[in-house]
Amino acid sequence: MQAAKQAVALAAIEHVKPGTILGVGSGSTVNEFIDALASRKIELAGAVASSEATSARLQAHGYDILDLNSCGSLELYIDGADEANPELQLIKGGGGALTREKIIAAASQHFICIADDSKLVKVLGEFSLPVEVIPMARSYVAREIVKLGADPEYREGKRTDNGNEIIDCHGFSIDDPLTLESTINNITGVVSNGLFAAKPANLLLLSDENGNVRTITPTP
Ligand code: A5P
Repeated sequence: MQAAKQAVALAAIEHVKPGTILGVGSGSTVNEFIDALASRKIELAGAVASSEATSARLQAHGYDILDLNSCGSLELYIDGADEANPELQLIKGGGGALTREKIIAAASQHFICIADDSKLVKVLGEFSLPVEVIPMARSYVAREIVKLGADPEYREGKRTDNGNEIIDCHGFSIDDPLTLESTINNITGVVSNGLFAAKPANLLLLSDENGNVRTITPTP
């Protein structure tokens, strides 16, 4: 798996314009990407990071971390995913950074998703869907999730970088990602959920274990 992550991270570097401000996601694949950026000495005007962990890794390599509020629209955001379908709709948030990831994706003109090829699925939902909730709303949101047909599990001991909690929802059959994304977002107390359907990735770079990278564009 490591070879696949390194290969796809290298392929993503080709899309980065030196001297620009880059949106950078979170997770083990993105960590490979950050390390590859640094080892190839790609200079950036700065980076907007989707998590404290990503900020720390970028800073350790000497990159400046910028506040999204001072950057306007970003040209490019690069991030991983837990699952992707052929429309490039995603499940994200396995690492709990879903809300900041969604904010940066929304504020970016182009979102390139990088992953190993085990992440490509026909129908989203085998990976449990993370939902970030305001702590006092946790039980209420969990009951509403049950009404929607899934089995909610509190991610014990996890606080997000925003000070909130995560509920992982098992057993959703996600044949209509757009509707489910907005239905869950409309539950009071939900901050955001890990479905990236309204704004999917624009490009998916997938690598196999032998380091062969293919580029997938969304099926119409
Ligand atoms: C972080 O919250 C997630 O959205 C990650 O992008 C996702 O979990 C992919 O992580 P890996 O690259 O570690 O599989």
